[in-house]
Amino acid sequence: MARVIGGLGTSHVPAIGSAIARGAQQEAYWSPFFEGFVPVCDWLKSTQPDIAVIFYNDHGLNFFLDKMPTFAVGAASRYRNADEGWGLAPAAPIMGDASLSWHVIDTLVEREFDIATCQEMLVDHAVTIPMALMWGEQAHGIRIVPIAVNTIQHPLPSPARCFRLGQAVGRALADYKEDATIVVVGSGGLSHQLDGARAGFINKTFDLLCMQQLVEDPNALTEYSSLDLVELAGSQGVELLNWIAMRGALSGNVRKLHSNYHIPISNTATGVLLLENSGDGS
Ligand code: DHB
Ligand code: FE
Repeated sequence: MARVIGGLGTSHVPAIGSAIARGAQQEAYWSPFFEGFVPVCDWLKSTQPDIAVIFYNDHGLNFFLDKMPTFAVGAASRYRNADEGWGLAPAAPIMGDASLSWHVIDTLVEREFDIATCQEMLVDHAVTIPMALMWGEQAHGIRIVPIAVNTIQHPLPSPARCFRLGQAVGRALADYKEDATIVVVGSGGLSHQLDGARAGFINKTFDLLCMQQLVEDPNALTEYSSLDLVELAGSQGVELLNWIAMRGALSGNVRKLHSNYHIPISNTATGVLLLENSGDGS
């Protein structure tokens, strides 16, 4: 049987990829951010998950505004990255797990989530940066199931809907018959706004509240609307929806193992949250 051993929330600012490429992790600007990942990398080394199920948002590399699924699940055995700007060199392809993808897709449709299925899907920095942060050069040994959530073009799904999507994915993972150790990732946030009158907006109080509620009382986050999240976290801070979906997929006893919060990287308040998921509390 598959086991979901934990969940991880992480920011995905493209500048992080440039810092890794330059080897700038020890520089004063970067070290408070990268040091926050040391316990995460140690935990991944000791627990050795085989598969990462990643809730993320595409930023225009695979989906554009003309065709925007609310939720889309990758069903490929290989995912390519490509030049998406930001000064990032395209990352090496990442292995998929098509068998688990189809199991997740079957379960989601059965549970009335009418998702798009993508047998070909480019993945952008919202997947490649978390992979680089978590596994570095070893990322090629991990298989992924990417699940894209629309946080770009309104109307956006609500936090409650994203939480329930995560719960349905969590049930699918718990039912999966193959032997596999799985970690669930939520990519994005925390508060940031890249353009408009509030460009540069950061809300530390709200970010820290969310990080606490993700551990202790995730249902509280489902009381917000997605527009509340835009107001409280910024128009790109709404990427928090991916963390909420990740938390929904943890159905066991959830315990915080580590967190770090650092302002700013580029325009963004960055956070990392590592949750252990043990047993089956459902
Ligand atoms: C930045 C943050 C993001 O989440 C993103 O997708 C792109 C850029 C930034 O702060 O630069
Ligand atoms: Fe983003």
